[in-house]
Amino acid sequence: MSEIPEGPHRVIGTPSPTPTAVDAPSSSSSAPAEPPAATDPPDTGHAKRAERLVAALFILAFVAGCGFLAAYVGLEVGQSDIPPGADAVVAALRSNLALGTSLSVALLALGTGSMIWVRHLTPNIEIEEQRHDLKSEPADRAAFQKEFAEGAAISQVTKRPMLRRTMLLATAPLALAPLFLLRDFGPLPGRSMRTTVWRKGLRAVVYGTNRPLRPSDMETPGSMITVIPEGYSDDADALAKAGVILIKFAPGELHVPTVHDGKTQLYGMNWTVDNIVAYSKICTHLGCPVALYEQTTHHILCPCHQSTFDATEGAKVVFGPAARPLPQLPLGTNSDGYLVALSDFTQPVGPSFWERG
Ligand code: FES
Repeated sequence: MSEIPEGPHRVIGTPSPTPTAVDAPSSSSSAPAEPPAATDPPDTGHAKRAERLVAALFILAFVAGCGFLAAYVGLEVGQSDIPPGADAVVAALRSNLALGTSLSVALLALGTGSMIWVRHLTPNIEIEEQRHDLKSEPADRAAFQKEFAEGAAISQVTKRPMLRRTMLLATAPLALAPLFLLRDFGPLPGRSMRTTVWRKGLRAVVYGTNRPLRPSDMETPGSMITVIPEGYSDDADALAKAGVILIKFAPGELHVPTVHDGKTQLYGMNWTVDNIVAYSKICTHLGCPVALYEQTTHHILCPCHQSTFDATEGAKVVFGPAARPLPQLPLGTNSDGYLVALSDFTQPVGPSFWERG
């Protein structure tokens, strides 16, 4: 292999600092006007106070840092230092509180001290940072081209076209493989994200017992019960979207009509039976089951991120990160007097998705 002539001298790592506007000589007449040289700010009473304050903050950071280490060693959870009978959860809380407090104080004091130092004790100057041209030198590029051509010649890839072409052919399927792997994402969802198994006439049965319900089974205003579509108690996929909460109101508590579009106001039919209203149990934020109902405020709460829905006004959002009301299931009764769905939900249940926005 032929010797590669030595290229231009290259510097690996950080180059030695280029003279800055602060310390560059001012011999060149074309150089930009220099800012005034850095000088220490006058050691006034203000500066002295700032210095003492910074020192105090750094000492506080030191003490808090030592406290963090002491808390870590002394309050270790699950070790023999926990007195007999003490609750392990309490011990963990105690340790977390001590660690969190000491670390917060240390970082806060350190950060505040540094900020005061920079703002009140350092000279107020502008510093220019010189940057090298990102493009390589012509000599560097020529050396690379020469080296590349030599490597290609040594590998015989230019001299043996059959090998070159078959090698490219061999890699073609691998290049296309990622496209085929997209299939593993499964079939396109179609309308499955917009629909549930609820349909007209399907009875609502109590989750856990599969008992169908009549309106008279929910006599007490303020009561809430979780129901599922009849016949789907073993279908986890269906239940992931079809869970519904029934809430009973006293006469006059529900705002009529009860359906909310999430943007403006209540609209549409009054889909309730005997002051019983049915909402999706799937939170419209990230899909947790909404499981808590406050009788006095008529609020439905999601335990995950505290989204709160007003059950008297179409489950519109009154607090939290959810962006849409809980969809309402049109509720009716069949000829036997059991509670049934009048249709599927008219809006997709659960979190927003790409097509819905
Ligand atoms: S999932 Fe309900 S508030 Fe986040």
